[in-house]
Amino acid sequence: MTVKRREFLGTTLAGAGALLAGCGGGGGGGPAMGAPNAGFGVSLSQGQPLKVLSKLANASSEPGRFSATVTAAPASLPLVEGRATSLWLYDGLLPGPVVDVREGDHVRIALVNGLPLDTTIHWHGLPVPPDQDGNPMDPVRPGATRVYEFDVPAGTAGTYWYHPHAHGTTAEQVSMGLAAPFIVRAADDPLAQVPEVTMLVTGIRLGANGQVSPDGPMDFSVGRQDGQLLVNGGWLPVHAVRPGETQRWRILNATSARYLRLALDGHAFTLVGTDGGLLAAPVGPLAEILVAPAQRVELLVTASTTPGARFTLRALRHPIDAMGVGTYATEDLLTVATTAGTPAAATAVPASLRPIEPPGPAVAQKRLVLTQSGMGMMGGMFGFLINGRPFDMSRVDLVSTVGEVEDWDIVNDTLMDHPIHIHGTQFRLVSRESRGQVAAAPYAAWLDTVDVPAGTSATIRVRQGLAGKRMVHCHILEHEDAGMMAVLEVRPK
Ligand code: C2O
Ligand code: CU
Ligand code: CU
Repeated sequence: MTVKRREFLGTTLAGAGALLAGCGGGGGGGPAMGAPNAGFGVSLSQGQPLKVLSKLANASSEPGRFSATVTAAPASLPLVEGRATSLWLYDGLLPGPVVDVREGDHVRIALVNGLPLDTTIHWHGLPVPPDQDGNPMDPVRPGATRVYEFDVPAGTAGTYWYHPHAHGTTAEQVSMGLAAPFIVRAADDPLAQVPEVTMLVTGIRLGANGQVSPDGPMDFSVGRQDGQLLVNGGWLPVHAVRPGETQRWRILNATSARYLRLALDGHAFTLVGTDGGLLAAPVGPLAEILVAPAQRVELLVTASTTPGARFTLRALRHPIDAMGVGTYATEDLLTVATTAGTPAAATAVPASLRPIEPPGPAVAQKRLVLTQSGMGMMGGMFGFLINGRPFDMSRVDLVSTVGEVEDWDIVNDTLMDHPIHIHGTQFRLVSRESRGQVAAAPYAAWLDTVDVPAGTSATIRVRQGLAGKRMVHCHILEHEDAGMMAVLEVRPK
């Protein structure tokens, strides 16, 4: 099957490119739009059963210890008929192996860098000490091995992920296949009895030669435009479910830039968890849920009681700029197929999940203004800035104190949406402001990434628990690499 060119790559975004690049003059249709996709149209096999992700094996037999080695290296997979696609993978797997640990565990993971360039592993969302968190300041050279070691504290149960964070090449490394889930479990998980499925969404874009196509001008402006969205490494996989069964889906958005506004035909979601784990109480039923790049959700989904039926999980149409010009078209992700046989008994959903303690009043404020520099011509490298400056890892941009609660106003003065991520902690959304209207966060949830749509601002309440340098950045990886990243130094009290 030939993949049709997506709306996003066609005329709709041509105008946006001009807007975003700040060189609007004349004729909206930019010359470079869609150029990186010139060879588009390779076929991937589709419709395979949803892959159950492999777990990273624990080499330690001591209770409370997780010890393993993971290798980042080139590998080839037969994604396209008759061709081998060269990728960069963790342990040869697309996606990489799941780290599955318990609260209280001590984790020790050795990274072997078999790549031809510097890499790191960043433990996205976890409160890992800064020197163990795979910051761009701590590159692991080609051929080198680096041991990361940290504790997974009580209260952190949730769905996280790991990926490279090398200076300037994060987007490339992730688009080549380096990403994997990291799940932390609690001994008293109120949903432990509910069957669960992990679904890691990534994107892939292959050229006519069957190889991953490099980022082009369009990708550098709005973030990488993937050819296909993959779930657990498969294109449009089929997930078989017993009719009437309730499952807990851990969905991770590990794409470079793709906003996933998820909906499942004929079904509603109950939201039970976000980036940092369970909510205080279930939220729903929801017809759809937006999962910005880097975010995760935990959903309860009760399958239709009709045996032998098929339903599509989709990423719905979603605009990513103020003008509504840059818009992701609706795209299918996965088929849910109910099996034959008698429906499963209904699962009772607990009315409360776990306490979410209020963080207390803020003792300091910060303001982060997101802008873009208009220096680039169409398709040129233009800058995405935080407080007027592009990333410089030798500079400290923001200073906080261990344990202090702060309110941050994140103001998006650009023409497109940015998912802003802070390392090392989970924060709370307090409110959002748009055109002078302030809306309080509808429910308490732990986040490490907050979407800040163009022309709006978000206020978050954040506290860092460990001293050292943390990254704050847009998780559209091309924006991060282009400079939309700041260094937060957390000082001891
Ligand atoms: Cu997902 Cu700076 O990271
Ligand atoms: Cu992170
Ligand atoms: Cu961005």
